[in-house]
Amino acid sequence: MSFPWVAPSFLSADFGNLQKDIEKINNSLADWIHLDIMDGVFVPNISFGFPVIKHIRDNARKPLDVHLMIVDPDRYIKAFHEAGADILTVHYEACTHLHRTIQSIKELGMKAGVALNPHTPIHLLEDILHDTDMVLIMSVNPGFGGQKFIEHSYKKIRTLSSLICERNLDTLIEVDGGVTVENAGKLVEAGVNVLVAGNTVFKSANPEETIRQLKMSSK
Ligand code: DX5
Ligand code: ZN
Repeated sequence: MSFPWVAPSFLSADFGNLQKDIEKINNSLADWIHLDIMDGVFVPNISFGFPVIKHIRDNARKPLDVHLMIVDPDRYIKAFHEAGADILTVHYEACTHLHRTIQSIKELGMKAGVALNPHTPIHLLEDILHDTDMVLIMSVNPGFGGQKFIEHSYKKIRTLSSLICERNLDTLIEVDGGVTVENAGKLVEAGVNVLVAGNTVFKSANPEETIRQLKMSSK
C-alpha cells in the first residue's frame, strides 16, 4: 500500500483489554504495530517487555515495529528477534558502535532503524544512512505518550528527506510523537513515510476511522 504508512503505538492501548485493541488494529488500515520498549534508564519511564510483545505477535496480523528506548541495545537484539520484531529501531544516542549494531539487526533478518532524539542533528547520520533501513525522527522527547509535537521536527524531516533523495537511497522516514490528523499532511509533505500515533489513535472515539484519516494524509 502507498505512503503514508500508519503505525499505531500500543503505549496508549488499553492494557486491561489488550486483545480488544489488537483486534481493532487487525481490522484497520494500519500498516505496522509500533511497540515502545523503555528501560527507565535511557528514558524516565518503564513500559513493557517480552511477554507482552509475544502476546501481540501471536495475535496481531501486522508487522511489529519495535522502538527500543534502552541503553546498550546490543544485549537484546536476538531476544527481540525471537519475540517477533520485524523492524528493530535503536537510538543513535544509545549506541557506541552503531554500525555494528545495525549489522547485527540485519543479520537476523530484521529491518534496522535508527532513532534521533529532538536535539540530535541529522548530519550525524551521514556515514551510516546507506546502511539504515529507516530513520525515526523523535518529535517529542522520548518516554511518554500524549506529548506536544516539537515544531522544529519539520525542518529535520526536510533535511533528512533531501539527503536520502540526493543519495538515491530508499531509507524510510518515520516520525514519532505528537502526530495528529491535523499535522499528518504537513509531515507527509515534509517527507515522512511512516506516521506513528499513540494517543491520536487509541484515545479517539473510533480508532479504525482515525487510522483511515491518517492514511489519507497526503502531500
Ligand atoms: C514516546 C514513544 C511514542 C509514543 C507516541 O517515547 O516513542 O511512540 O507512544 O505517543 P503519542 O503519539 O501519543 O505522542
Ligand atoms: Zn515510539
